[in-house]
This record gives sequence, structure tokens and C-alpha cells, in this order.
Amino acid sequence: NAEGDLTSLVLQALDKQDNILSSEAFPSQKSTDVKSALDRLASRSMVTYQTIDKEEAVLEPEGEDIVANGSHEARVFEALKQALEGLTIKELEEAVGDKNTVKIGQMRAFKSKWIAKGKEGRFVASTDSVQDETKQQLQGVQLTRTHGDPKILADLKKRKLVKIHKVTSFKISKGPKFALEIVKEETDLTGDMLASGAWKTAAFKPYNFKALGADQHAGALHPLNKVRTEFRQIFFEMGFEEMPTDKFVETGFWNFDALFVPQQHPARDLQDTFYISDPKLADKPRAESEDDKADYEKYWNNVQEVHQDGKYGSIGYRYPWSADETLKLVLRTHTTSISTHMLYKLAQTKGPDGRPPPARYFSIDRVFRNETVDATHLAEFHQVEGVIADYDLTLGGLMEFMTIFFNKMGITDLRFKPAYNPYTEPSLEIFSFHKGLNKLVEIGNSGMFRPEMLESMGLPKDMRVYGWGLSLERPTMIRTKCSNIRELLGHKVDLGFIQRSEAVRLSK
Ligand code: PHE
Repeated sequence: NAEGDLTSLVLQALDKQDNILSSEAFPSQKSTDVKSALDRLASRSMVTYQTIDKEEAVLEPEGEDIVANGSHEARVFEALKQALEGLTIKELEEAVGDKNTVKIGQMRAFKSKWIAKGKEGRFVASTDSVQDETKQQLQGVQLTRTHGDPKILADLKKRKLVKIHKVTSFKISKGPKFALEIVKEETDLTGDMLASGAWKTAAFKPYNFKALGADQHAGALHPLNKVRTEFRQIFFEMGFEEMPTDKFVETGFWNFDALFVPQQHPARDLQDTFYISDPKLADKPRAESEDDKADYEKYWNNVQEVHQDGKYGSIGYRYPWSADETLKLVLRTHTTSISTHMLYKLAQTKGPDGRPPPARYFSIDRVFRNETVDATHLAEFHQVEGVIADYDLTLGGLMEFMTIFFNKMGITDLRFKPAYNPYTEPSLEIFSFHKGLNKLVEIGNSGMFRPEMLESMGLPKDMRVYGWGLSLERPTMIRTKCSNIRELLGHKVDLGFIQRSEAVRLSK
């Protein structure tokens, strides 16, 4: 092949004379071909080379014509020199044989005072001989590929007689392993070579540690999935169990009522929550399997009583509780509906002492809210949710836990702000100082679930439950420096952004 031939040409040329210039030794070879031949040889230390980029001037077709036939002005002059009486413009055009040459040539010849106007408007030569400078300059350029006077070069270029182009050439010298032939290099040490002893004299190809490797065109994880992986890892290392989150459709009961959210609460409005139109209503909560021995009827009644009349030391909301309202089907607005279900199951569980054992649950999945979509809001997003149930927990413990949890995500300097949730008391919003935005940003919501909620389930009075939730999108947007949520999720997402986003950081 051509490149193979070129490598031996290079080696032969170097054998005759060390230090050669590719533009002189191989004037007709393409510089890219020369370079790949040189790279092949250089990787074997057979040659070393330097790249020299320079500009060269070459003649345009019109410039070549001038070198062959003289400049426009010289041709006009020569024609007039032959005619003793001078020539009319017509005769001049005939003599020169080209209108355009006459047009440009007579102008330049007048300027140099080579010709003048004679009798009856005829053109006459006004000197005996002239120096055709343009032709001489172009001949020089043709020979040396440049001109000593940059002004002249610029002028020739402006007259479109020459053009400048970049050429790459290489200064090539013998390398430490110079030889006339490329020795076949082994890429692997084989059993045969060991057995025959051939390995002792074989030439091995050096490893190229700088090679990038071929692009695998592999799929890429979505940034949300990567941040989710990190959260899951943190939850698992802190002893949490993952909750099953496959129920996107919930009843008002599990999404709201069981959480002591009153039926008049604005979160239950059509403007905030998506309701299912077909079927509109679900059945009352009931056992989902044979071994589910829970008394759903009792739970249902407890929830009704605690809302309507008050129970467990609470005076309740004192409104007529509607069973139909609780049976409406909704797209879950938070995964706290799942936590509630899990806590209810925990209340039915007996530990070694006959009481529900401490538990830690988490989930990361999709929730739905009837929001106006803008740069930071979507009608669906992912909620990261955690729950810790244990005896005699305190608020200080929740703050301590949140500090440790977020530290593991690389988020430090938390601030807590008192807040309100119908199902937690006290409630805390969690803020962190964002260095990029130079302000405090809300990163989560948390609290201790109310006795109205926990005792309805049958959990013991002294079992306290922490709960917290945050969106998966917020930390992902901060991590990927994405300021528009629609660039992260939905049909406008740029796949390149997904492919380029950084890897999961499990070391944190
Ligand atoms: N459900 C709350 C939300 O959607 C988060 C939360 C969960 C708050 C548990 C307190 C306790 O923002």
C-alpha cells in the first residue's frame, strides 16, 4: 500500500542522508500520508521528526499565463513597438489578440510611461525597451514559492496573480532504532514463543497508554438515575429498607386521610391534584393477601373518628367526614402514601417484646402534581422519601440525622426552618447554602408524624416516627448545572447532555 511504500522511501532517503525535509524529498506526497508514515516509524523509534508549518505562494492561472506570455502591459508595449505609426484601439486589440489584456495592459503601460497617445488618437510606444517587472516577480515566486518583499507579494495577491496556502512539511532524522526495514513487532507474548525461546529475540510493540480506546456507543444512564443510585447507596449504608413504590394511583384515604389531611385541605383541590375519572371510586381498604390479618375496618373507623370528633387526646377537625371523598382515586401527590401504608403494616408487626420493632424505610419514585409547567416545575417529579420509626425519638435526633444524611451527599451547613404539614408536628424545612447561587436553597421537608396519624394505625404511643421528603430533580439540577428542568426531563432533553453527564459518585 501507499503508506507502506512511503515508509520505505523515508528509510531509504534517511540512509543516504540524515536530516531530510519532506517537502524536498517527497514533493508530490500529501502531507497527511507523510505524517502517518512518519508516525508509524516514530512509534518504533526508527525516526524522529519535527513538523514545520509554513505559508507558500503559488501562481494563479493568470500568473502562470504572465510567466509564459508576459504581463498585460508588456504585451501591449511589444505590439505598439512593432507598429511605427502607432495603432488604433481596434488594431491594438487585433495585434494583442485579447480585449481584456489590452484594457488592463494599456492602463498600466500609460502609468509607467511606456506608451503615449500619438496622432489621431493612436497609441504609440514611447520608449525603446521595458523591463517586465511583473513577469520577473512572478518567475521569482514560481521558483522560490515566496518573495523577499512582502509588499510585492501582497500586491501580487491583490491582483489575483498568486495565492498563499499553508503547507506542512516535516524535518526528519534517524531515530535510535533506525533500520532499513520495519521489523515485525509482536503484540502478544504467546505460549509458543515461551516454548520455542523466540521471546528472547522478538521485538515487542510498546503499549500505548495514551490510546483513548474505541467509542463503544454504549447507552448512558440518565443523570436522575445516577443521583438516585447515590441516594439509594446512602440509604442502604444507613440501614434502610426500600419500600415498594409501584402504586402510582392511590385512594384519597392513603394519600390524604390516613395522613390526617382534612378533606377541605387545598392540596386536595382539583387545581393541585390529578383525579382519575374512570373508575372514579375505589373500594375501602382491605387485606391484599391471605396472610394480611390486619383489621382495616377498625383503622378506617379510627381515621374517621380522629378527623370528625377527635381521638387520642386530639380534638380533631370537627367536620363531617365523607367516605366517598376518601375513595376517590388520585395520582399520588407524594410517596408519603407508601410510607403510611408501610407504617400501618409495621403497626401489625410484633417484635421480640411483642411490640412493633424499630424500622427504617425509604423510596425514590415518581409523584404527580397539577402544576403549571415552568423552568423549575413539572407536573411529575421524583420524590426521595425516608421514614424512621423508633421509641422515644426526639426532634434533636431528626436534625442530627438530617445533618449526617445530607453530609453523605456532600451537602453541609444545613439550616432548619419551622414549617407546617398536616401530618407532622413539629415540621422543619431544610435549607442549605448554595455556593453557586450564593443563597440558601430549600432542599427538603421533614417532621415527626402526628399521633392522630400513628395512633389510628395502632402504633404504640411512645413509638415516634421521623419522615422527610425531597425532590430528586433539585440536587440533580444543582449537580449537572442545569437551570431548566425541561432540559433534564421530558421531550426536550438533549441526548448529548445525558451522555456527557458525570459518572455516579459512590465514594461520597
Ligand atoms: N410529603 C412531603 C412533601 O411532599 C414530604 C414529607 C414527608 C414531609 C414526610 C414530612 C414527612 O413535601
